[in-house]
Amino acid sequence: MYLCVNFMVESEDKLSEMRFSALLERLATGESPGREGWRLLLTALSGEQDCRLRRCASEVARRNFGNGIYIRGLIEISSCCRNDCYYCGLRRSNRQASRYRLTADEILDCCREGDRLGFGTFVLQGGEDNAQSDEWLADVVRAIRSEFPERAITLSVGERSEEAYRKFRRAGADRYLLRHETRNAEHYARLHPSAMRLDRRLHCLEVLKRLGFQTGAGMMVGTPWQTVDCLLDDIAFLEELEPEMIGMGPFIPAAHTPLARYSSGSVALTLRLVALMRLRFPGALIPATTALATLDPAGRKAAVLAGANVVMPNLSPLAVRGKYSIYDSKAYTGSEAAESLGLLQRELESIGYTIVYGRGDALSSERRQTDRILI
Ligand code: 5AD
Repeated sequence: MYLCVNFMVESEDKLSEMRFSALLERLATGESPGREGWRLLLTALSGEQDCRLRRCASEVARRNFGNGIYIRGLIEISSCCRNDCYYCGLRRSNRQASRYRLTADEILDCCREGDRLGFGTFVLQGGEDNAQSDEWLADVVRAIRSEFPERAITLSVGERSEEAYRKFRRAGADRYLLRHETRNAEHYARLHPSAMRLDRRLHCLEVLKRLGFQTGAGMMVGTPWQTVDCLLDDIAFLEELEPEMIGMGPFIPAAHTPLARYSSGSVALTLRLVALMRLRFPGALIPATTALATLDPAGRKAAVLAGANVVMPNLSPLAVRGKYSIYDSKAYTGSEAAESLGLLQRELESIGYTIVYGRGDALSSERRQTDRILI
């Protein structure tokens, strides 16, 4: 029997204050709470403990990053994908999806606009599009690198060969985002067709790390059939991999996909995970994801107040913005739009934060503040 977690799972037995403090203490000293500790932290907190957890997490983020939030200009380079993930609106079988791919010139124009707006990082994200070959993409990265030597380049173009990743690295890419989606093999098999292999995804992440990319992993929260144990598998995997970036967003159903009729993941559970991962990985880059902002207008602020330190406004050409539709009603206007940084700044200021216009690299372990949480 599956106990799905597309709602906040609450255990009947709440955690005693003593036990809760002991778990926070472990996290503060850089130790893992262990599987059963994580289970309690995920399922057995009172409302007050949840608030305290978020406060501790934002305090840790502040010690490491001050009140600064890094921004990334997100360029969605192709909505074509050879994969057929059951949850994604861009899946190959979705005949209703609008397809486009940007040319190298269009991508460079986006970077120029991003540069003008002050973005220190460009993120090139796209479906796994065979037409954008490894060589082509490496050339694009080289062109961006030579025109913008000070900017960071992040790629998010799925599973490629070790050789391809090496080419991207040599061309000047600094970071790579590849969410593992779920670390539980059975769960993975329910979300993906059999041609997609969890092992291959995990291997890619290991290769990316080895090649020296700042590497991003992460999972969707509240996908159908996800259990607390799936999330515990995700957390154990993140502890093993120690990624520099951790992206977590709620599942949102996408029309014309096999999972269109399932309900969205829980915002509260996503925020809980953001706070927990901040406490476990004090120097990590953790975005307030667009999926959170899509489900809840206050989601971005809430994520920052739970320890997130990155926002990724959309820098894609306006003409294609509506077309990168991985899930329904995806936000890409207002403070999700790169040209509206003023709005984002005001939103962040209202909770005591500010945009930081730097590259915004992950902190190396020497620069990380792991000292005790005093709250
Ligand atoms: N709901 C939420 N997130 C989704 N993604 C893909 N489809 C959905 C969906 N329906 C996420 C995946 C992917 C990232 C780019 O978007 O985690 O890695």
